[in-house]
Amino acid sequence: MHYLAIKGKQKLSGSVTISGAKNAALPLLTLSLLSKNPITIDNVPEVADVKTLLQLLSNLGASSTCKDNVVKIDSTTVNSTCANYDIVRKMRASILTLGPLLTRFGHCEVSLPGGCAIGQRPIDLHLKALEQMGADIEIAQGYVIAKAPKGLKGATIIFDKVTVTGSENIIMAAALAHGKTTLVNVAKEPEVVQVCEILANAGVNIEGIGTSKLIIEGSGGKLLDIKDFTVIPDRIEAGTYLCAGAITKSKITLKKVNPKHLEAVILKLEQMGFKIDEKEDSLTLHPAEKILPSDIETSEYPGFPTDLQAQFMALCTQAKGTSIIDERLFENRFMHVSELLRMGAGIKLKGHSATVEGKAKLNAADVMATDLRASSALILAALVAEGTTRIHRIYHLDRGYENLEGKFSALGAHIERLEE
Ligand code: UD1
Repeated sequence: MHYLAIKGKQKLSGSVTISGAKNAALPLLTLSLLSKNPITIDNVPEVADVKTLLQLLSNLGASSTCKDNVVKIDSTTVNSTCANYDIVRKMRASILTLGPLLTRFGHCEVSLPGGCAIGQRPIDLHLKALEQMGADIEIAQGYVIAKAPKGLKGATIIFDKVTVTGSENIIMAAALAHGKTTLVNVAKEPEVVQVCEILANAGVNIEGIGTSKLIIEGSGGKLLDIKDFTVIPDRIEAGTYLCAGAITKSKITLKKVNPKHLEAVILKLEQMGFKIDEKEDSLTLHPAEKILPSDIETSEYPGFPTDLQAQFMALCTQAKGTSIIDERLFENRFMHVSELLRMGAGIKLKGHSATVEGKAKLNAADVMATDLRASSALILAALVAEGTTRIHRIYHLDRGYENLEGKFSALGAHIERLEE
């Protein structure tokens, strides 16, 4: 196993190119299941989650190549409908095969993902929506066994909660269903919007793209003419590097970003005293003389993303004053707190709220990564800690950050990947 050794107190400078969004690439790869032709997808991040999904699709009978962030995938040859436990347990997003497999083949067997470090994460809303579209669903031996022998039927579905992968699953299912599906309270995340745009480009009639109500006219079971496309930039990776510049009081530039996807994040950084120059596809962060505390509440897009909550908590440890961070989406997404405390942070937890007292003098320590985004908070803390921090279990980071050490080293950080 590898760990990261980071020597703190180094200023960063220069620029970093942001990769394609992992959370867009995953549904877009499963979207290939709806295609009648092979497709070429550009700007796919080479991260562990993408490799896991390509492995799952290959187990189902798809073939793909992946080189220089370009994935060529042919899912026309898929002949199995079973997403088995061995793969699903590695990555919850495997559930994104459920909608496409069911709508294409009329049946599928997808292992239930189970809980994870950040909370229970049920998939009841995915299942309820598919049932409303006529699917017969049974849970047996840890698997979702879904059947719709005559295909899924259009329906009106109101999501009780906004769910990102739930919305994506049902949008993909609706694209091949018989008749019209109306979806209310759909997630508006840019990753969901890109799924809709690729479908619209393939000729699917979708009204309301980018809003919380979609009307989708299904193809009646016919596979789609999906065109080649490029994955949108990763707004969470971008937000993480913005925090890295901010916490080290450095001027850094992000290239190949979409600033429009980062409005809530940019606003928060500006309120904390940072100046940010925006261009069409780049952002430059200027250091703040004094970092101001902040009140942050995570919510669905376009609100402040839960996937950046941990990174902003690390940043708040360096603000002068008290910050309050409310986590509204996941019940257990504070796993980074105990590790930040071990580095000297002043954080108190009460329910879904964290009170962060700054400015704390952080010291290097051995710390443990617990989930993907929690781990990036530890990198940020390590960048300003006195001494060399060792971050263990970094396979969590490899799930979602492409070329992490390469990018941080290029910015001037002292970071090394070493063998335990
Ligand atoms: C996606 C993202 C993840 C991000 C999250 C919220 C991917 C691959 N992952 O996860 O990085 O943190 O959105 O922005 O895109 N819920 C239910 N029942 C369901 C589904 C969800 O109760 O059937 C609840 C969840 O427990 C959670 C909330 O709804 O409290 C939002 O979850 P959801 O948007 O579904 O998260 P994911 O799609 O799993």
